[in-house]
Formats: sequence, C-alpha cells, structure tokens
Amino acid sequence: MPHEVRAVIAMKKDAPAEVQTILVPDPGPGEVLVSVQACGVCHTDLHYREGSAGGADGFPYLLGHEAAGIVESTGPGVTGIRPGDYVVLAWRAPCGACRACRRGRPWYCFDSRNATQPMTLLDSTPLTPALGIGAFAEKTLVAAGQAVKVDPAARPEAAGLIGCGVMAGYGAAVHTGGVANGDTVAVIGCGGVGNAAIAGASLAGARRVIAVDIDDAKLDTATQFGATHSVNSRGTDPVEAVRRLTDGHGADLVIEAVGRAETFLQGFAMRDLAGVLVQVGVPGPEARIELPLLEVFSRGGALKSSWYGDCLPSRDFPVLIDLYLSGKLDLGAFVTETISLDEVEIAFERMQRGKVLRSVVVL
Ligand code: APR
Ligand code: ZN
Ligand code: ZN
Repeated sequence: MPHEVRAVIAMKKDAPAEVQTILVPDPGPGEVLVSVQACGVCHTDLHYREGSAGGADGFPYLLGHEAAGIVESTGPGVTGIRPGDYVVLAWRAPCGACRACRRGRPWYCFDSRNATQPMTLLDSTPLTPALGIGAFAEKTLVAAGQAVKVDPAARPEAAGLIGCGVMAGYGAAVHTGGVANGDTVAVIGCGGVGNAAIAGASLAGARRVIAVDIDDAKLDTATQFGATHSVNSRGTDPVEAVRRLTDGHGADLVIEAVGRAETFLQGFAMRDLAGVLVQVGVPGPEARIELPLLEVFSRGGALKSSWYGDCLPSRDFPVLIDLYLSGKLDLGAFVTETISLDEVEIAFERMQRGKVLRSVVVL
C-alpha cells in the first residue's frame, strides 16, 4: 500500500509552492523509504519552482533536497542499510563502475541512480523529485545509494544541510581548492555556501580567510565560521582590498560563491601568482566573461569549478558529521530558523531578500 503523506509541490511554472497529499510507494528493488526529519530550503528548490531548473516538462515538482531522516523500510536487494538507520540524503549516488567513477571523479558519475518508482499526486500524476530526492515530504523514496548513514547523535536540522549547500561550500575549498596549511583564502559571497567554504578553509589550516560580501550582517556571521578579515565590496574594490591585506600579493585560493560574472572576474584578479579560483556559485545561463588571455597565461594557477563540492557522499558526509559532533564545524550556525512544511513559500521570500543562511523544515 502506498503511503499518503503531506509534501510541498510546485504545480506549474512560477506558481507558489503548495502543500498537497501525495502517494509514496513502498520501496522496490534497490530503493529505500525514508521518514524525513528535517530538510533545508535551498536556492535550487526555488529555481525548480520558477522553472529555471529541471525544465518545463518536469512539473509538478516535489521540492526539497537537503534532508536527514530515518530509514523506514528497504526494498529487495538493499544491503548495508537497514530500517532505523539515520541517514543524510545525497543527490548523487555514484555507481563506482563508470568511467568518471573509475577515474576518481564520482561527482560526475554517468550512472548515478535515483528511485525508479514514481511518487505521485492522489490522481496518479507522477512527481519529479527535486535533484532526485524530494524531501519536503513526511516520507520520500530514494535509491539506496542516496541514503548515507551517519552518526545519529547529529541533530537532523543541522545534519540535513550536509546534503547540499554545506557539502558544496566545504568541498569547494577543501576538495576542489585543496587548501594547504598557511594559505590565504578569499571567499566571495558569504551565504550558506560561502560560509561553509570559510569553515572548510579554516579547518584545513588556512592562515588568513578573507570574507567578501556586499552585506555587513553577512560579513559579521562569516567571522563566526572562521573568517579572519572581511571586505565589504559595495564601497571598496575587493581586488585592491585583498591585495592590501596580503602585502600586495593576492590570495592563494579564491572561492566564488555568488554565481555572477562580476564576482568571477574579481576572483580572477585577486589571486596571487599561481593562485587558484574555484567557482561554486551557480551562474545564470546568460552570464558571460571576457578575460585578458595574456594574464591567464602569465599569472598561472588554475580556474576551476566545483560540482557538489567534488564529493563522494558515502565518504564525505560522515566526515562532516563527525566534524560537527566534535564541535569543529558549527552546522547549527547555518540554521537561521526552523519552519513547518506550510511555510516553505515564506522561506523562499526571505531567501530572496537575503535575510537567512538557511530556513529548515522540521517534520
Ligand atoms: N559581491 C559579493 N557578494 C555578493 C554579491 C556581490 N556582487 N552579490 C551577492 N552577494 C552575497 C550575498 O549578500 C549573500 O551573502 O552572496 C551571498 C549569496 O548567498 P545566498 O544567497 O545565501 O546563496 P548560497 O545559498 O550561499 O548559494 C550561493 O551557490 O548554490 C549556489 O545557487 C546558489 O549561486 C548560489 C550560490
Ligand atoms: Zn559512476
Ligand atoms: Zn541545494
């Protein structure tokens, strides 16, 4: 018998998200049914409901993808995970066997699996789960590989954030950027993703972590996550400011966590010789950059992008949870407010006004 649960659905492009009762099937082969305990509100959910992620053919969308919960039941053939296990959900479940996985880039896995049975509206209309998860719901169905077992001591509203924004930011600094002991790291954009990058850089041994944002309140919060200096780029040229803070040299590593051409160019220019720029902010499809090729050549280093923090969820989620539990990574500080399923649309508005790091639905 399918489970009738409440869930947040985007019915059509640009319509407000609404709570509906949906049907979630019992898990089939390789699937697990998860009782969701908490799910963060991420920009990508808003992009789905605006029709700019997933496409026009995907409606209705079941939103939500930054979640932690308890495995309720498992389908045939599922090993390594059992009912009662506490899990964080991942939007990639790398297969381990494809070319990308074998070459050590599982975040680009060609064969990442999601649940194959559809969750539906009461009239049997199939739902598209956001990022293959769909966790603004009392229960959701995912592929077993998407459910990563972590220490149950971690509070769900904090733990769920590992599943997207925190992993993306932390991984951009630590995995993609490869922060080394003594590095100077600049982070442009201090939202949830940027602050996770700041925390990651600080934990990885950066000597200086320079937070750059246009909002003083965001810069204040950034110091909580380990920023040693801050630059408000509304009134000051951030490139000059970073040079001033580094005896004229620039940063060894710059993390762009806004997703704009303008901030990418700032990041490009504030690097030291041989410095690395990592783009983790997601740009719109219309964004373009023009770079002086001679400078690309003469400054050296690298321009990279970070996809899901270049993570392997089964390896990295438990690590971040342990950092949280040992007090080194303050996941609780990302949670600006906890809300109910009925308040997701209000949370989208707050997010657009830039007033929150994360609103988290608690079920
Ligand atoms: N220069 C510096 N900071 C900026 C600028 C700018 N021109 N424009 C915006 N910001 C700051 C905002 O003030 C905010 O603190 O960038 C931060 C963005 O944070 P959020 O909106 O909370 O976004 P976040 O969840 O951190 O995601 C960042 O990564 O996942 C993607 O789609 C997401 O592109 C977005 C980026
Ligand atoms: Zn693979
Ligand atoms: Zn997300």
